[in-house]
Amino acid sequence: MIQSFLGFQNLNQDQIYTIIHQSLKLKKNKLKIPSTIGTAALLFFEPSTRTRFSFQTACVRAGVSPLILDGASGTSLEKGESIEDTIFNIEAMRPLFFVIRCSDDVNLATLSEKTKVPIINAGWGKVGHPTQALLDVATLFERWGTLENKKILFIGDIRHSRIFSSHRELSPIMNYELGFCAPPEFIPSQTQGAKAFDQVEQGIEWADAVITLRVQKERHASAATLGDVYRKNYGLNPERARQLKADGFILHPGPINYGIEIEKEVLNDPRSVILPMVENGVFVREALIQKIISGEWL
Ligand code: CP
Repeated sequence: MIQSFLGFQNLNQDQIYTIIHQSLKLKKNKLKIPSTIGTAALLFFEPSTRTRFSFQTACVRAGVSPLILDGASGTSLEKGESIEDTIFNIEAMRPLFFVIRCSDDVNLATLSEKTKVPIINAGWGKVGHPTQALLDVATLFERWGTLENKKILFIGDIRHSRIFSSHRELSPIMNYELGFCAPPEFIPSQTQGAKAFDQVEQGIEWADAVITLRVQKERHASAATLGDVYRKNYGLNPERARQLKADGFILHPGPINYGIEIEKEVLNDPRSVILPMVENGVFVREALIQKIISGEWL
């Protein structure tokens, strides 16, 4: 049966651990690149560096040729063709699967019912970014050997964060706790299941790992939330990082606004796993691709 991967709703803990274990095995084995077995259509209707290159690399390592649509420029989207028609036409060229990044305006759930080709969600508006959440937890599991009852604090712009949305889905499955600390204008209406902290220091003291989020400047008119006020009240600086547990970890999905949500010095903290996350993202995506193309996924 063809299955898409849009989020964690239909998955259990065993299935998620299969991906985490397989990705860590792939990392250890550094597998040879197999001969190409088909193509994948990577459709990035919104900008991306990490996720796009990560999926491209994962495809090549999994023996799949990635074919990329990188924004509307040079495509018939510029002539007014819809995203839906674009996807149906590319489906007719028989890719093994789609990898799609898109805005909230696109309904990936409806599209996945209409296409015969699996769709992997590579960042869908504010709905979710499940492979990012998977690579976050794979990176922490690799270091802790468990996720059970661990506490992950999000700091910052969770209102616009598809990553926070995906962790809200994933955390009850994998039994870790979520907390958040953010200015009122960055807090979404849906935060059930996550513990709120008014003071960032209290949140850091509670947490086993901290995920600082990019302040999405393009979505905020108020300069006050972006500059010195945000940095003073919520920015992760060396002093705040010192309050994190010795076996705690610091994550950021990127891209980073240095001097707003995080200071550059914090990247040199031995507990920062920001680049190891990027490395692990390729293995997580490769493991997911293997599941999808083998037909044994779910
Ligand atoms: N973390 C993340 O999704 O980064 P990109 O937007 O560069 O893919």
